Amino acid sequence: MKRFDGKTALITGAQRGLGLEIAKHFALHGANTVLMDVSDAVIGAAKEIEFKFQTKSIGLKGDVTKIADCANIVQKTLDSFFKLDILVNNAGITRDNLVLRMNEKDFDDVININLKGAFLMCKAAAKTMLKQREGRIINISSVVGQMGNAGQANYSASKAGIVGLTKSLAREFASRNILVNAVSPGFIMTKMTENLKEEAKEKLLEMIPLKRLGMPEDVAKAVLFLSSDDSSYITGQNIAVNGGIYL
Ligand SMILES: NC(=O)c1ccc[n+]([C@@H]2O[C@H](COP(=O)([O-])OP(=O)(O)OC[C@H]3O[C@@H](n4cnc5c(N)ncnc54)[C@H](O)[C@@H]3O)[C@@H](O)[C@H]2O)c1
Repeated sequence: MKRFDGKTALITGAQRGLGLEIAKHFALHGANTVLMDVSDAVIGAAKEIEFKFQTKSIGLKGDVTKIADCANIVQKTLDSFFKLDILVNNAGITRDNLVLRMNEKDFDDVININLKGAFLMCKAAAKTMLKQREGRIINISSVVGQMGNAGQANYSASKAGIVGLTKSLAREFASRNILVNAVSPGFIMTKMTENLKEEAKEKLLEMIPLKRLGMPEDVAKAVLFLSSDDSSYITGQNIAVNGGIYL
């Protein structure tokens, strides 16, 4: 018997990066997975998971900023798996610039996808979870939501907003046994960080007490913990997976 046998996990922004890694970890531990993304590549990613882990996986194209897409994704999840146990709000973008050069569109796009998208997905999933009287929601925030970052005012604000959203939903849904938590990754080895210059990487490593960048699986393991029975008395929390760069 695997840890997530019989469970259904829906992960947004799951065609690559942290979302894909999280989906693979759920599949490895027996869960049925629904991968959602604006990119068509999500269909192939789900097929690969099904083949590799011998669990059921579907890839659905959708945009977290569109309320109809969010409702549709939840409905299709129910059509295939009859319930939705876990929602991971992972879809996110960056549009970095110093504030004086940041245009309104870049601010709005980041807030819309990173924060409003999570709100819309929570709303869509909560309808089902409230009926089930059970559910887990994990929202992916970021260390820069906690400490700020020059050139990322839009992104930091969206990620700090995720923490406020998480705590409020944790309070609203606790009586129905829906636990809502956040995970705040630090600097993780993904496409986002692989192009860092050697010098920048060295500077970064000096600031990280554990002296390494994080791996996608470090984040996935924290998400799985918050989705499992091992965390049944934890809600409204923000777990930092950052090697100690912000304490
Ligand atoms: N990589 C890091 O070091 C790091 C650190 C802290 C937080 N994070 C957060 O983790 C999450 C994943 O990051 P990543 O590095 O894997 O990024 P990524 O760019 O590789 O993946 C993000 C995914 O979200 C999808 N997406 C974008 N807009 C969407 C929309 N409107 N609807 C649905 N899907 C959409 C993209 O297509 C992409 O597949 C993000 O929320 C990011 O802010 C990442």
